[in-house]
Amino acid sequence: MNKTLSVFIGVLMGTSAFAQSDANLGIIPAPVSITKNAGTFILDKTAVLVHNDADGQKMGDLLNAFIVSKGGFALREVKTAPAGQKAIVLTSVGADKLPNEGYNINISAKQITVVGKGAGLFYAVESLMQMMPDKTGDKITLPLVSIKDYPRFSYRGAMLDVCRHFFPVSFIKKYIDQLAYYKINTFHWHLTDDQGWRMEIKKYPKLTEVGSLRNGSIIGNYPGNGNYLTPVKGFYTQEEAKEVVRYAASKYITVIPEIELPGHASAAIAAYPELSCFPDRDTFISDKTPWAGSRKGKQVQQTWGVFDDIFVPSANTFTMLNNILDEVIAIFPSKYIHIGGDEAPKTYWKESPFCQALMKEKGLKDEHELQSYFIQTIEKHVNSKGRSIIGWDEILEGGLAPNATVMSWRGEDGGIAAAQQNHDVIMTPGSMGLYIDHKQSNSPDEPVTIGGFAPYQKIYAYDPIPKVLTADQRKYIKGVQANMWTEYIKTPEKAENHAYPRILALSEIAWSPVERKDLKNFSEERLPVHLARLDKMGVNFWVPTPIGQSDKPLTGGEFTIDLKVPVKGGKIYYSIDLSRPSENAFLYTGPVKITVPQGEKRVLKTIVIAPSGRRSVTTETVLNNGAPDVKADAKK
Ligand code: ACM
Repeated sequence: MNKTLSVFIGVLMGTSAFAQSDANLGIIPAPVSITKNAGTFILDKTAVLVHNDADGQKMGDLLNAFIVSKGGFALREVKTAPAGQKAIVLTSVGADKLPNEGYNINISAKQITVVGKGAGLFYAVESLMQMMPDKTGDKITLPLVSIKDYPRFSYRGAMLDVCRHFFPVSFIKKYIDQLAYYKINTFHWHLTDDQGWRMEIKKYPKLTEVGSLRNGSIIGNYPGNGNYLTPVKGFYTQEEAKEVVRYAASKYITVIPEIELPGHASAAIAAYPELSCFPDRDTFISDKTPWAGSRKGKQVQQTWGVFDDIFVPSANTFTMLNNILDEVIAIFPSKYIHIGGDEAPKTYWKESPFCQALMKEKGLKDEHELQSYFIQTIEKHVNSKGRSIIGWDEILEGGLAPNATVMSWRGEDGGIAAAQQNHDVIMTPGSMGLYIDHKQSNSPDEPVTIGGFAPYQKIYAYDPIPKVLTADQRKYIKGVQANMWTEYIKTPEKAENHAYPRILALSEIAWSPVERKDLKNFSEERLPVHLARLDKMGVNFWVPTPIGQSDKPLTGGEFTIDLKVPVKGGKIYYSIDLSRPSENAFLYTGPVKITVPQGEKRVLKTIVIAPSGRRSVTTETVLNNGAPDVKADAKK
């Protein structure tokens, strides 16, 4: 070891970072209120599980299966508990007085009483499962508490783009499992885009025969290092989509399908060129990629981007889209159908004599009004089927469709404007961390992403209700959503890496009252336990960097590096010799003192390794004691 550097390894053993006494009982999202009483409830095989309706039966089975895995014993299930019998009682009696999706749990020494109905009972059982510690002997000991809980927002969503890359049904279900576990109640399924049409439509088979195949994709970050000439293909049959809807519903998740219009339509246009203003015009890749230029005929796009070739607002287009939407509506029972509406360049509409004549005929003053006409025509059809539309915030331009809900993605302005016009809003601003395709740290080890910077702490800090809104206008903010666009996410494993732990942070801002937010408790007490669970389940979450480590330079001569492991059971390894840390580096066991002589600097490099072997990116902290600035010197 360098003689000018002294490192003392402390003896911080028995860290209390994972204490069972967590203020939130380990529950994510944090419940509305928890009242603790003295004493414990001992769960063992003498307890019975009481329920007496279909809901209770279903949730009782779920809870019992969990108790088997956690405690190694099953509870006898009965309709009424004999007097004095230790019991867990699941009941809907009293649930009518609870807020929507709400539940209560009351634990006394003799009984756990769980009150809830439908989603509420499901969420209650999840909270109960999350708060159960590991068994000691053949008993699970629970604290005496009273929990009252219900969501802050009725819409708690996660969007997955399956167009840029295709994700199989098995992955969709695995994703839904975790969303449900964190009380997310909406899965927004982005099914059509320039790079792929992924939903079988029986009346128009070419949508998937032609539109579900992309002959390549970009290598590296846009404009990329070339074309990765491996085809991306795949679509969901209607039976598969129905199965996803059924599966999600069993976990109280609504699936909202998105059929993009009038832009992001290259895949549909490749299948049916008559949907374009210019059916005979070749596809033009108007971007900066090395293979930009014209392609013969209409093509499914191989690059990320925004493309000029959008739907022509003709009678034929509306007939086709209405027929497509009818099939979609028959598969998805959701109140909402997402119709996209974002990033529709007006270039082709400006050039098209048909569009210009139509604008004149309808008295539309510009192409934004033409877009509004397009969306309103579609809305009328969707409304006539008893459904409502959601669109990205561009649907504000040229005038909002009368009953539309707005998804605010380009910051909060769209959501604010829509709420001020008395329209429902879902907040999902990329600038606030809600784009979970953005990168999670500044480490060079991060995989290729679209860019941006959205660590889970940024999501956690976000409050979906803009302060500028009046009390009345705030009621229109129905919820919040995280979006995952998959141009750079080619595999389910990478999708999981992007999703977690950010979905857990989303869960808390979507569900918990704003005054219950506590980043320290979330990241230091609860998250480590939840990440250990995901680790065990084979979910490829992003392993956080050590709690307490700065990725910004620190200045001084004496440093005490005090870190916490961000995954229960995980380990931190560190180096100070510029090598990349691995299991061969120092194992962190407690605060480390590092002395840096005047005029020198050291680089602390760390890595976190979860129990499964899954690892974090390397994090570097420069410890600088007045070392010459080499870059500044070079400039002189
Ligand atoms: C979007 O990110 N284009 C909605």
